[in-house]
Amino acid sequence: MVNVDEFIDEATAEIREELGDSTAIIALSGGVDSSTAAALAYEAVGEQLVPVYVDTGLMRKGETDQIREEFDYMDSLRILDAEERFLDALAGVTDPEKKRKIIGEQFIREFEVVANDVDADYLVQGTIYPDRIESEGNIKSHHNVGGLPEAVDFEGIVEPLRDLYKDEVREVARELDLEEVIAERMPFPGPGLAVRVVGEVTREKVHVAREATAIVEEELEAYEPWQAFAAVLGKATGVKGDNRVHGHVVAVRSVESRDGMTARAQELDWETLQRIQSRVTGTIDEVSRVVYDVTHKPPATIEYE
Ligand code: XMP
Repeated sequence: MVNVDEFIDEATAEIREELGDSTAIIALSGGVDSSTAAALAYEAVGEQLVPVYVDTGLMRKGETDQIREEFDYMDSLRILDAEERFLDALAGVTDPEKKRKIIGEQFIREFEVVANDVDADYLVQGTIYPDRIESEGNIKSHHNVGGLPEAVDFEGIVEPLRDLYKDEVREVARELDLEEVIAERMPFPGPGLAVRVVGEVTREKVHVAREATAIVEEELEAYEPWQAFAAVLGKATGVKGDNRVHGHVVAVRSVESRDGMTARAQELDWETLQRIQSRVTGTIDEVSRVVYDVTHKPPATIEYE
């Protein structure tokens, strides 16, 4: 991308031309990619675009409220409360790819209902360049690439960010006046906290991942990581008060990266790590232990599943 203003002019013109008078729909996840794609498309065609935010129950702390506030100006925005349906669909499932598949399919189901309701002709997606590359290599099933609502007969798909890297998307977001908290937000995977919970997704594990991630993001902000978060690995014994407990093991992950395709685990100082440990074990009852993940990508991936 040579120039942000030029990119925005060209992208909005292209969207306008492609859509004509048609109605388009976009899944707004709250991440920088879909938020930027939605803001661009809304700038191009206004309420002809219906942004759909699905609250899967797998979002970060406060995320749904932030979305509600930030995109309040889009009168066509739909917010669906689907937590119950996602958790039900995931109950008992431990295989990572199966989890991703179930989430992708549930997403599509939620989305189809609205797409049919508003008679959407086009689908707008926030796919960026690295998503396409990883999908071609079939490294992981990114649910935002390739999975399309089959029950909706879209005339076409519009991907205005398809050639951009993440840092370029952030530039566009800033130019479109997307609130700092969204423009500068760390990438968050489509399947949400489900890929930060190893094994079966339960309400309790999601709660731990959500609360711990909020602490980690806050404590590590000064390190300016590409991504910093907490994952829930399994259970281990600990002592809390006078009792032995069998609590969750929380892994702290903080990585530097340009595009998520490779990453380096960040070197953090001991005091910071101890402060995180103390806040996480002190405020989240269900946690007995905190560990720091020192693995780069490769050989690990950034997320846990
Ligand atoms: P991994 O874990 O594969 O992640 O090293 C690379 C980058 O992609 C994000 N990620 C996803 N983003 N849908 C997304 O939109 C997904 O299914 C997905 N899985 C991983 C991850 O957070 C990291 O930034």
